[in-house]
This record gives sequence, structure tokens and C-alpha cells, in this order.
Amino acid sequence: MRFLSLPAALAAMTATTAAIQVDMTSPDSIRSVSKTIAGKMLEWYTGNQPGGTPGILPQPYYWWEGGEMLGALIDYWYYTGDTQYNDLVIQALVFQYSPTYDFMPANQTKNEGNDDQMFWGFDVMSAAEYAFPNPPADQPSWISVAQAVFNSQYYRWDTELCGGGLRWQIFQWNQGYNYKNSPANGGLLNLAARLYAYTGNQSYADSVTRSWNWMSDIGLISPTYQVFDGSDGLLNCTQLDHVQWTYSAGMLLNAASVMWSVTNSTVWYDRAQGLWNASSVFFKDKVMLEVACEPQGNCNLDQQSFKAPFSRFLAASMKFAPWLYPQIQPLLYTSAQAAAAQCNGGSDKITCGTKWTDNGVWDGTSGVGQQMSALEVIQANLIQNATAPVAHDTGGISQGNASLGTGDGDVGSNPVVLAPVTTGDRAGAGILTAVVLLGLLGGAWWIVS
Ligand SMILES: *[C@@H]1O[C@H](CO)[C@@H](O)[C@H](O)[C@H]1NC(C)=O
Ligand SMILES: *[C@@H]1O[C@H](CO)[C@@H](O)[C@H](O)[C@H]1NC(C)=O
Ligand SMILES: *[C@@H]1O[C@H](CO)[C@@H](O)[C@H](O)[C@H]1NC(C)=O
Ligand SMILES: *[C@@H]1O[C@H](CO)[C@@H](O)[C@H](O)[C@H]1NC(C)=O
Ligand SMILES: *[C@@H]1O[C@H](CO)[C@@H](O)[C@H](O)[C@H]1NC(C)=O
Ligand SMILES: *[C@@H]1O[C@H](CO)[C@@H](O)[C@H](O)[C@H]1NC(C)=O
Ligand SMILES: *[C@@H]1O[C@H](CO)[C@@H](O)[C@H](O)[C@H]1NC(C)=O
Repeated sequence: MRFLSLPAALAAMTATTAAIQVDMTSPDSIRSVSKTIAGKMLEWYTGNQPGGTPGILPQPYYWWEGGEMLGALIDYWYYTGDTQYNDLVIQALVFQYSPTYDFMPANQTKNEGNDDQMFWGFDVMSAAEYAFPNPPADQPSWISVAQAVFNSQYYRWDTELCGGGLRWQIFQWNQGYNYKNSPANGGLLNLAARLYAYTGNQSYADSVTRSWNWMSDIGLISPTYQVFDGSDGLLNCTQLDHVQWTYSAGMLLNAASVMWSVTNSTVWYDRAQGLWNASSVFFKDKVMLEVACEPQGNCNLDQQSFKAPFSRFLAASMKFAPWLYPQIQPLLYTSAQAAAAQCNGGSDKITCGTKWTDNGVWDGTSGVGQQMSALEVIQANLIQNATAPVAHDTGGISQGNASLGTGDGDVGSNPVVLAPVTTGDRAGAGILTAVVLLGLLGGAWWIVS
């Protein structure tokens, strides 16, 4: 073999590994860049390979992030029409359905939080809304599994502390059992709103009202629509952790836009508009950022991925409430440009980092969350021409079952059989926000009243 001179070798490398270039005015370019970034994201996933467990990302990723990633792939198909990952998604979702069909698989339940479960619930809800290909005929439909997730969480509503609300954790042995937070409560609210739009069943709208009123009463949703992370139930939710995460605001904005689309009410119009107004904190010079951790450069593994669901929820909100389009779209455009510009890391030059605000400079981090966030914000720019979400009576291909999941063995009924809990499990539970973990372990310094 011949050895190239160094400059020649470098030239050859650049020729084969061109950094990502996106032309945001060209749908073809957006599709092609999305495909490259999705392909890179799936380098981390081995669940569809021999010996792998479908739906599971390798350690150190937690179970929930596998669900989050599958959601990004459902969106990928929805936006681009590329079907190459559909079988992978269907296999993984059905594998993790669990015997109660509500994403409470025995391998995960001992440290599963409500928000962890809900990220899988969002997947089946999106699958129903986008008329994603159905699961095998001998398996419950996407929408019925979304209903089962709803049912399991609806009955976890807890009036012992704070006059209501969901606890963050499902089981009392987990860190954060007494914490009542926005990801868990906003998750249930989001799913209920979308189930209401899909099925027309008033019970889901009533659940939305219950959740919204409680979150507002406690202050998790402020009068000016900031969404704060959570509150300590042992203080009866009289004090708040004021940290704001993108995805919590996003799930509420999506829910409010869905409720507006069904009700056409000024109440939901104002809520959607207010939540969007308050989301300005998540942009710097028109580029999206995870403001609670990016400026300090200390986003943990979970937090590195939150801009993915935020982008997804923003795009979906424009679809349900088209008057938001001229407000949100310009920021998704500039954020996508900035995200793509820094996806030039690693030896492959298609590795994305966490921060998009550094003018095209890769921040040196990489992972599923970074790849997923860039993917979601870039492909979201195809939303304008994407098909409108369907409902049961308007093109839906998923048949509901309102009673699926009610025989679930979680809190309140027959306890699920669980493996003994180890210290590692306690520390490893679900979606952790660093601030909360520190707070729970090191006293209540994080609570700012
Ligand atoms: C939407 O479709 C129209 C007509 O096919 C096309 O001209 C336009 O570029 C598309 N826009 C996006 C953002 O995909
Ligand atoms: C549970 O874990 C075992 C052992 O790793 C694995 O064989 C099995 O497929 C897992 N089940 C699910 C639903 O993840
Ligand atoms: C706890 O908070 C709830 C809701 O704000 C309130 O209704 C209840 O009276 C409070 N309980 C105590 C013991 O203060
Ligand atoms: C509506 O939803 C509620 C709550 O899940 C359920 O009990 C009821 O059977 C549903 N109604 C119909 C008509 O499906
Ligand atoms: C929605 O409400 C607005 C004003 O409140 C009204 O002008 C409009 O006709 C309503 N649209 C529908 C579809 O009901
Ligand atoms: C949102 O911001 C706009 C522009 O500042 C303002 O006019 C509007 O009243 C705000 N809406 C809500 C509900 O906060
Ligand atoms: C709906 O779910 C319930 C509870 O799991 C089950 O008994 C029933 O057979 C299901 N109905 C249909 C039509 O699948």
C-alpha cells in the first residue's frame, strides 16, 4: 500500500468525511441531513442486534431514553417519509409493552418513575396521531396502550400530600417519591389532552382540567406561565424548585395547543400563547439552549437530550395551533441551523454536541441525547408540509380500548413482584435532574421560595 503525504491524507479525509452542511431552504437537504444524523444516533443502539434487548440503550443510558429515542424515530418517519427504522421502532415498542400493556416491564419497574413511563406513552400516542404503521395484529393498538398508560397514572393521583398531583416516582423506595414535579404531572396532562383530541372522550378532558388546576394552584405553572421543576411534598408543596427545563414547558405547550384545537376556547388560547411567551428563556440569540445547565456546561446525560422533546413539542404545537407558526417557526429555523453547524465533531465529522450557541463550534460532547436533539430540531423544519395529526374519526388507524391497563399491578392494587432494590438502583432511578438529586441527598438548599 502506498503512503500518502500528510497534506494528501488530510485532503482525502476531508473528501470522504465532509461535515454536515444543511440548506434550510431545501426540504431535500433537511431530509438528507436528518438521515445522516439519525444514522449516527443509531450507532449507539444495539437492541435490534443478536443478543440485544429491543428498546434498551446500553449503559449508562437509562430505560426512558430508549423510549425518547424511539419517539425521535417516529418523528423521523413522519417528517421525512423514510421507513427504514419503522420495523426497529415497532419491535422495540411491542417488546417493552409489558404484560399489563402500559410500559411497566418487570426489568424496569423497581426504579421506574412516572415521567420515564410517560416517554414511552408519548411514543404510542404519536404513533396513533401520525397513523404510524400498526403493531402486529395480535398486539394491542398504539392508542389503546396510550390509554393504558393514562389509566395507570390516573389512579396514582395522590391527595395525601399537596392536595393532589402525581408523585415523581411510582414506588416509595425510590429517591424522589415525595417530590411532585412538572415532568410527571405535565406528562399526564399532555397525554390526557392528546387522548381527548383523538377519542373525544370527556373523561380525558376532565383529567386535563384536574392536572392544570392543581399545577397552577401549587405554582408549578406560574401566573406568567413559567413551568418550574417541582415541589417537595413533605413541605406540602409550599416551596418550589424554580429550575426550568425545556421539555416540561414543551409538553404543556403542546397540550394547550391541542386543547385549543379541540375547544377553540380563549382560555386555552391564552395558555398556549402564555407558555410560548415564557419559553423565550430557552433561546439565546434565537438559538435554543437548555438554560438550566448549558451555560455552566454541566448538563447530565438525561439533560443532554431534553431539547429533542422540546423541539418535537414545539413543532406539534404549531400543527395544532397554526397561529403559533409565525412565532415558533423562525426560532426552529435558526436553532436547526445552529445545531447542524456544530454537528462537525468526532473523527466522522457528523457528531453533534450539547451546545448550539457557540457559532458552529462542537463542544466536545457526544451521545444519543446530542444526536437526538439535533435530529429533532432539524427535521421539525419539515412540519409545514407534514400531514395533519389524525384522530379516531378523522383518518385514525388505531382502535382504542379505554379499559386497557386498569388491572395494572402498581400502587393501590396487587403489587408487582420486584427484585430486591440495591443502592445502585436507588441512585440510578429514571430521569434525574442534577439539582434535584443534590437537593435530596444534601439537604434542601435548592429550594428557593
Ligand atoms: C412544502 O411543499 C411545497 C410544495 O411542494 C414546496 O415548494 C416547499 O418547499 C415545501 N416546504 C417545506 C418546508 O418542506
Ligand atoms: C429483561 O432483561 C433480561 C436480561 O437482560 C432480558 O433477557 C429480557 O429480554 C429483558 N426484557 C425486557 C422486556 O426488556
Ligand atoms: C396542603 O396543601 C393543600 C393544597 O394546597 C391544602 O389543601 C392542604 O390544606 C394543605 N395541608 C396542610 C396540612 O397544610
Ligand atoms: C372514557 O374514558 C373513561 C376513563 O378512561 C372510561 O371509563 C370510559 O369507559 C370511556 N368511555 C368510552 C365511551 O370509551
Ligand atoms: C373560534 O373562536 C373564534 C373567536 O372566539 C370565532 O371567531 C371562530 O369562528 C371560532 N371557530 C370555530 C371553528 O368555532
Ligand atoms: C404574549 O406576548 C405578547 C407580546 O409580548 C403579548 O402581547 C401577549 O399579551 C402575551 N400573551 C400572554 C398570554 O402572556
Ligand atoms: C380491552 O381491554 C380489556 C382489559 O385488558 C380486555 O379485557 C378487553 O378484551 C379489551 N377489548 C378489546 C376489544 O380488545
